[in-house]
Amino acid sequence: MEIKADGKDGSLVLVKQGAEARVFESTFVGRRSIVKERFSKKYRHPSLDSKLTVKRLNAEARCMTKARRLGVCTPVLYAVDPILHTLTFEYVEGPSVKDVFLDFGSNGIVGERMDDIVVQIGNAIGKLHDGGLIHGDLTTSNMLIRDNTNQLVLIDFGLSFTSTLPEDKAVDLYVLERALLSMHSSCGNVMDRILAGYRKSSKQWSSTLNKLAEGEAIPQIAWY
Ligand SMILES: Nc1ncnc2c1ncn2[C@@H]1O[C@H](COP(=O)(O)OP(=O)(O)O)[C@@H](O)[C@H]1O
Ligand SMILES: [Mg+2]
Repeated sequence: MEIKADGKDGSLVLVKQGAEARVFESTFVGRRSIVKERFSKKYRHPSLDSKLTVKRLNAEARCMTKARRLGVCTPVLYAVDPILHTLTFEYVEGPSVKDVFLDFGSNGIVGERMDDIVVQIGNAIGKLHDGGLIHGDLTTSNMLIRDNTNQLVLIDFGLSFTSTLPEDKAVDLYVLERALLSMHSSCGNVMDRILAGYRKSSKQWSSTLNKLAEGEAIPQIAWY
């Protein structure tokens, strides 16, 4: 794919180079957009590789659409290109939750804004889980806050899958808890407040949180 210096007129500006995908900023029929390109694994057979890549691409698009149907804000999906292996999304204007949390304390991020965000996170995950969708990569980089409205927008459904098992839901929450502990310990106990929101929005919260508690108990037992 050709990379140009600016994102105008459909040209591409690299935003992130990951292990599975490259993410570009571009324009799509005059609108600011994000293009996510899944690239091939060179060690795989070319036609098998293309099939698997298209499968993952479609799975990501489907899971994102499902999240939206469940009432969780996601970017609008503009296009799926099975030849170029790209998904094109609406560009969400606003910071990531990671940036907002890292600014907490230093740049006058007030407790009220923080409270609003953590409740939104808990609600969104509760809706996904009750609808049988596991996000699979719940980190604060995969959550954006829309400018002006402060609406939480979930992105990156590349590792998402459908499941109704409390174990899978608990692992989803566990990934988030670890991410918060390692990246945002200065924000206080954010996870407990997220779980308060989760309890309110998920009817099946108790089986999931029991599994989460069981999972967390195992390493503690191993210590003694
Ligand atoms: N719709 C979007 N609007 C604005 N920024 C986005 C959007 N989608 C992705 N990004 C930015 O690109 C980064 C990588 O995208 P993501 O889908 O998370 O790919 P990866 O699987 O490589 O993590 C995000 O962390 C975010 O900064
Ligand atoms: Mg990501």
